[in-house]
Amino acid sequence: MGKSGNSGTSRRRFIAGAAATTGLAAAATALPTRFAIGAKAPIKVGIMLPFTGTYAKLGENITDAMMMRIAAAGDMLGGRPVEYIKLDSEAAPPKAVDNATKLVKGRNVDFVVGPVHSGVAMAMTKVMKKAPKTIMVVPNAGANQLTREACAPNIFRTSFSNWQTSYPIGGELHRRGHKKIVTLTWNYAAGKQMAEAVSEGFANAGGDPSGIENLWIDFPSVSFQPLLTKIAAIKPDAVWVFFSGGGAVKFVKDYAAAIDKKQIPLYGTGFLTEGTTKAQGEAAEGIITTMHWADTLDFPTNKTFMADFETATGRQADVFGVQGYDTGSLLLLAMAAVGGDTGATSDIIKSMENTIVAGPRGGWTMSANHNPIQDIYLRRVENGRNVILGLAHAQLEDPGTGCTL
Ligand code: BEZ
Repeated sequence: MGKSGNSGTSRRRFIAGAAATTGLAAAATALPTRFAIGAKAPIKVGIMLPFTGTYAKLGENITDAMMMRIAAAGDMLGGRPVEYIKLDSEAAPPKAVDNATKLVKGRNVDFVVGPVHSGVAMAMTKVMKKAPKTIMVVPNAGANQLTREACAPNIFRTSFSNWQTSYPIGGELHRRGHKKIVTLTWNYAAGKQMAEAVSEGFANAGGDPSGIENLWIDFPSVSFQPLLTKIAAIKPDAVWVFFSGGGAVKFVKDYAAAIDKKQIPLYGTGFLTEGTTKAQGEAAEGIITTMHWADTLDFPTNKTFMADFETATGRQADVFGVQGYDTGSLLLLAMAAVGGDTGATSDIIKSMENTIVAGPRGGWTMSANHNPIQDIYLRRVENGRNVILGLAHAQLEDPGTGCTL
């Protein structure tokens, strides 16, 4: 656990900034208490996130921000104390079923918060679908299927679908006059779905997708040199990439060393410059990305969140912290709505479906298929910060194709 669980930050500020509302919240007191015995038993929140490897910092920031949010509300969910059970997912899909089973069956958790990696998420759904009374809240993994054909009443996401993060920049690449584009990502579901979304957005804006060449590298390899040599030989108008965490730091530095960004500008999903710009330094300057948050979003909830996160953890806030924070808000509201009754599954689900979150990223609502409907910003790195150039897409909703909830 990070330092945030014992945050000395102002509790009053968090409560005053009450980050979300729910349609069912007002009904909470009218609900019968269905757990007369053991009313004060803790609510068990299983956390299945990466705490080692290239995505370790993502897992840490999600966890610390979620705990910070709940701590600021008295460290209680619906009047009951919280027990966190942390498990390192290692961002390893082959271990996902066993790990999720340990939490759901072995530890009998009420909620599973996780994961970061799309492949882990898809494997976890096999366990979650057999445990309809345990609610899964996905604070990062963007696998499109989670809230499309593989959706389920007990699976919610507080982050994004992979499509959402990348569809808008396809149109932007076309509007900027780029015709010959290279995409480069890790070769697994997240990278593939994001690259597909770039092509879709590019084509829908009038671009010719045959001008896009897709390059791949195995996850989590950071041996970028042969690919950078290939890009230099292709001489595209622009390069778009998806990397995150430790891999993003290395890629941006390697790109700047090998390629002149003024000749071949670098674009990406915002993950490329989230929690990484300090380590990337000068190499990150000028990178253009799309994302559902920016450190430069200039309104009080975001500023307070960023300051409190830094005080609590000693680290700079990033989008992963934002997603963890909003996950905390969702749990708080859902449990308040049922007075802490974890057995009231259908009321918890209804409450989560009706939630409107007004957190650090601004206002977002939960779509019918349990995915945020949210603003996507176009950003450029200037002096180590993601400066907002404009709205890439207002209140973008994933199509939710194949989800029948
Ligand atoms: C994913 O695997 O879904 C993912 C991982 C890191 C950042 C964004 C998405």
